[in-house]
Amino acid sequence: MTGRVFLLLALVAVATAIQRIKLEKRTYTREQYKFPAIQEHLKTKYIKDYVPNNDAFNEGLSDYSNAQYYGPITIGTPPQNFQVLFDTGSSNLWVPCANCPFGDIACRMHNRFDCKKSSTCTATGAAFEIQYGTGSMKGTVDNDVVCFSHDTTFCTDKTQGLACATSEPGITFVAAKFDGIFGMGWDTISVNKIAQPMDQIFANSAICPNQLFAFWLSRDANDIANGGEITLCDTDSNHYSGNIAWEPLVSEDYWRIKLGAVSIQGTTYTNGPMDSIVDTGTSLLTGPSDIIKKIQHKIGGIPLLNGEYEVVCSKIPSLPNITFTLGGQDFNLQGKDYILQLSNGNGGMTCLSGFMGMDIPAPAGPLWILGDVFIGRFYSVFDHGNKRVGFATSKSA
Ligand SMILES: *[C@@H]1O[C@H](CO)[C@@H](O)[C@H](O)[C@H]1NC(C)=O
Repeated sequence: MTGRVFLLLALVAVATAIQRIKLEKRTYTREQYKFPAIQEHLKTKYIKDYVPNNDAFNEGLSDYSNAQYYGPITIGTPPQNFQVLFDTGSSNLWVPCANCPFGDIACRMHNRFDCKKSSTCTATGAAFEIQYGTGSMKGTVDNDVVCFSHDTTFCTDKTQGLACATSEPGITFVAAKFDGIFGMGWDTISVNKIAQPMDQIFANSAICPNQLFAFWLSRDANDIANGGEITLCDTDSNHYSGNIAWEPLVSEDYWRIKLGAVSIQGTTYTNGPMDSIVDTGTSLLTGPSDIIKKIQHKIGGIPLLNGEYEVVCSKIPSLPNITFTLGGQDFNLQGKDYILQLSNGNGGMTCLSGFMGMDIPAPAGPLWILGDVFIGRFYSVFDHGNKRVGFATSKSA
């Protein structure tokens, strides 16, 4: 084989070894965005056996319904279409089930999976339950083929376990733009120990030479159709500039790494490296409340009730950079990155700090959660094969 032919073949091989999943995005309003509901949701997600304060949910949507980014998968043969939230902070796939009761509004308002209409589906009958802040999602486990996007290459075989939800905690998911959740964390935190779909993709070296996936999220509020992109099995240099700084995983549960330091204009607010979890299913950036309080003061945040801090919108350009040290590299969040600009229903904008204080007790905490406020600015690579997370500066759309 000549070098040229070989190069061509190599290029073809590379071209097939990446799958792109286009993400859509929703925007949210000030009224929907309430920190107490988000916080209770996150505590339920991260603190084992946490009993949430349900009052917090009465006012706002939980963080999952505030999630901005979602994209397509198919399940079954012939394929049934779903929009899912790709969540690196959990490890199960679930979608609403065809046979959920009429009274389950969240289920009835979304696409539902019907195992009977799929020739590859096996209903195992095994019971399944996940706790969310407002109640639990209950269902049964089905096995079937799961495909990313509308492609037929990046698919699992028909033994893939997924939960078919027959009961959803209403208020959490009624307003959600997505049908279900696609967990991309590690199997150790998977409910019922169901292997997550990415395992099968990673095991197939013919389509997946690099056992990783990467998130590029657009933070352009005006470009809803082009919300972002996930690539499976490779990174995409069109979406970032500079090099990727890598940080090894601390443990294989969440995508948990050491955050080296958080500093503003040379003042360091952390006292040594701290655990942090990179969570695409969380919109905010959370940290220990004593540290976050100092940061809110430093950026001139005006404390509201409920742990929220408002900032005068016109001050965004003059806000200081907040520097996160990861993989030995400094990543600057600028005011426009860490301030949420929310429409307030009067034709105007309210500007809220995207930082939220939240204390997670040991053994899971103390920790930081790097949600979309961070991932939106920094291209994030979840490297399963090498057990590490990488960050680089995102290019805007
Ligand atoms: C803030 O961060 C941006 C992006 O890294 C950088 O271009 C800019 O110079 C920084 N500004 C200051 C005042 O350090």
